[in-house]
Amino acid sequence: MDKRLDKRIERFMNWMKREQIDLALVTSPTNIYYLTGFYSNPHERFMGLFLSLTGDLLLIVPELDQKQAIEKSNLTHVFGFSDAEGPDGIIRKHIQVSHNTRLGIEQGNINYKTVLWLQRLLQIENFLNLESGFNELRLIKDETEIKSLQEAAYFADRAVEIGIQSLQSGKSELEIIAEIEYQLKKQGIERMSFDTMVLTGKKSALPHGKPGKDKIQEGDFVLFDLGVVVNGYCSDISRTVIMGNPSEEQRKIYTIVRQAQQLAIETVKPNIPIKQVDLTAREYISKAGYGEYFIHRTGHGLGLDIHESPSIHEKNEEIIKQGMVFTIEPGIYLPQIGGVRIEDDVVVTDNGVHVLTTFTKELLQIGK
Ligand code: CO
Repeated sequence: MDKRLDKRIERFMNWMKREQIDLALVTSPTNIYYLTGFYSNPHERFMGLFLSLTGDLLLIVPELDQKQAIEKSNLTHVFGFSDAEGPDGIIRKHIQVSHNTRLGIEQGNINYKTVLWLQRLLQIENFLNLESGFNELRLIKDETEIKSLQEAAYFADRAVEIGIQSLQSGKSELEIIAEIEYQLKKQGIERMSFDTMVLTGKKSALPHGKPGKDKIQEGDFVLFDLGVVVNGYCSDISRTVIMGNPSEEQRKIYTIVRQAQQLAIETVKPNIPIKQVDLTAREYISKAGYGEYFIHRTGHGLGLDIHESPSIHEKNEEIIKQGMVFTIEPGIYLPQIGGVRIEDDVVVTDNGVHVLTTFTKELLQIGK
């Protein structure tokens, strides 16, 4: 048994007690991994971890995952179901509920079809949300988690380096992405933390643009936004470079974003409200005259999920604590000129901040 995992389960059970949740059904792969050490994406099949207040833990997985789940998890009760039978029989046999049972589910992770199925199968009506419990638990990262995040950040830095080295006028966004991911896989990286983004020219002004066959041209901004997964933990970095010489306005907005990002990083320390980090970047960009072109929050928590708590926005009154990990990524997006975003991953220390991603933030002029 892994003591770290036991501790997490104990803390989660205590939270359930406080919230008077009798039975929890955890279905999100990252939360199952967080509590058991076993990760799998079951796609359309059912996968669930039942935790009851009596202390019973039961993991139900598709049969094809059962062997792995037994090996990797810290659990004694792991059941597999076949595609033909489905999980109904196992659940009926092993899960004791009454009409009044208060069942916790992750509302943002479970679909309506599954809820209807559970209602019918278990004859229960009281559903509660487990998400705030997991948010609370996962908000503060321990040393082992921070080590994985640090390693993921290291490979995010390498990924940007590979991308920049392969930039050349005439190449397409997708070609650059292929090069980055090919090189990373050769270095043993299993997967990216989200679809790699390389956006060029006016498309760099779309924070969620879709890379395509667009060819890189002189005078374009090229925006990289990418990350990798190491031991389940995600990194997330953005860098923006220019092909050749920047125009006056391109240089201007780059300098503003860079300064706003730096100031926001320097703001971070324990015991101040999270909103202060966002407001620092936002006020700087607004004073420079580009407030209306900074169209998203300053950052998001980072961990087993690419977006988790805390959310770094201007109204978040939550207090920053040591061990929180999040991104700081202000941007300015001008539809006719392109966009600049600079993003780092940071860990809150006892008196300030440690920046995990270290790739240079000088404005790189490619081909110069
Ligand atoms: Co991000």
